[in-house]
Amino acid sequence: MSTEREPVSDWATDFDHFDPAFVADPYPVYAELHDRCPVAHSDRYGGMKVLTSFDDISEAAHDTERFSSRRIVVSETPTHRRGAILPPINLDPPHHADPRRVMLPFFNPTNTLKWEQTIRDLCSQRLDAFAGQDTCDLAADYAKHIPGDLTAVMFGVPPSEADLFREWVHLVIEVGPTDPDVERDVTAKMLAYMHGLIADRRQNGGDDLVTYLLDQELDGAPMSDDDMAKMLFLLLIAGIDTTWSGIGSSCLHLASHPEDRRRLVDEPDLIPTATEEFLRAYSPVFVARVATTDTEISGCPVNEGDWVMLGYPAANRDGEAFDDPDQVLIDRQQNRHAAFGLGVHRCLGSNLARLEMNIAIEMLLDRYPDFELINPDTVTYSSGNVRGPRVVPVRLNN
Ligand code: HEM
Repeated sequence: MSTEREPVSDWATDFDHFDPAFVADPYPVYAELHDRCPVAHSDRYGGMKVLTSFDDISEAAHDTERFSSRRIVVSETPTHRRGAILPPINLDPPHHADPRRVMLPFFNPTNTLKWEQTIRDLCSQRLDAFAGQDTCDLAADYAKHIPGDLTAVMFGVPPSEADLFREWVHLVIEVGPTDPDVERDVTAKMLAYMHGLIADRRQNGGDDLVTYLLDQELDGAPMSDDDMAKMLFLLLIAGIDTTWSGIGSSCLHLASHPEDRRRLVDEPDLIPTATEEFLRAYSPVFVARVATTDTEISGCPVNEGDWVMLGYPAANRDGEAFDDPDQVLIDRQQNRHAAFGLGVHRCLGSNLARLEMNIAIEMLLDRYPDFELINPDTVTYSSGNVRGPRVVPVRLNN
């Protein structure tokens, strides 16, 4: 469909998250909207409201009756159409709780730690490959690979499948929203792939996420293949470019802020605190809801069927919620950010994402403590509901 989009004329009344200016640098847009009009709107995508204040976003995220999760990726496909319902992210209470409960043990803190050595091995492989090189791309050659390869290991498939996974995520998140044919086609392909994995594990067994799901019950009965395929679909989409963006933004920050890089080299114990700040300041994910009724938020009218965007990255730059919101302070202590969402749909993979980010930063700094950005003008970003750097060229200075 439309690849040629009209440039945004006014961020408060014509918002478009695919606008190249927004993709390159959304922070001045958030600052303008916070000052001028914290509930922006747009006639694009059939009509949407864009919430940018922490309080409004929290209110909408917690009010699952007025704001439904049945569609969470803003797209040209009208909101009255159903799309694939992926449990639990597209389910509202009371249907949301049981599928979430099914996934929780796999992603709890103790089980997540089992992946530590795998993550270390994956980071090591990528860092080894830079030996003898003067330069590398920390987004394309490092950040990109860790979550995709880990997902392949978790799914019990060869790491070589990760390229296919990343291509699917790109099509779903970046192309599908403005091209419904692509959205339909890639959804069908992914579901067919997941059904194939389930059939294989049913016959041959295994020790992976697919086999874990085979052993679970939903609402007191064995899960259908359809439910399992949709859960696997969600986990693939949810865990790859999100964490890739989180690692990439951290690398970009450290490559362009030598004082922070040196401090983390000297004080590695500060890395988890810095990771939280990178998550806050460069939050990769925003999602939408669909208004179930005519209503209002902060006095602004919202119509039934409108997209309502929850700008989690904007919430994290709201001066009412954070001191000096545009300052990236790697030792920030008060940091109850919304990068992993708010309310019942809060990220199930947050423990895993944090572990990946902490290890990726720690191992990079340990191996190449002096890296620096080569040319800020060559940095590029992904667009759509997940934003993060995709090209970060650095000199390794080893
Ligand atoms: C830095 C990395 C990540 C970020 C920033 C992130 C962000 C988010 C956000 C904002 C939500 C809330 C969606 C909503 O409000 O509708 C969410 C939900 C979710 N995330 Fe993550 N995520 C990350 C990594 C992961 C990983 C690694 C996984 C698993 C492999 C994962 C699995 C999920 C799932 C299953 C949900 C849906 C939970 C529910 O509906 O109850 N995420 N994530």
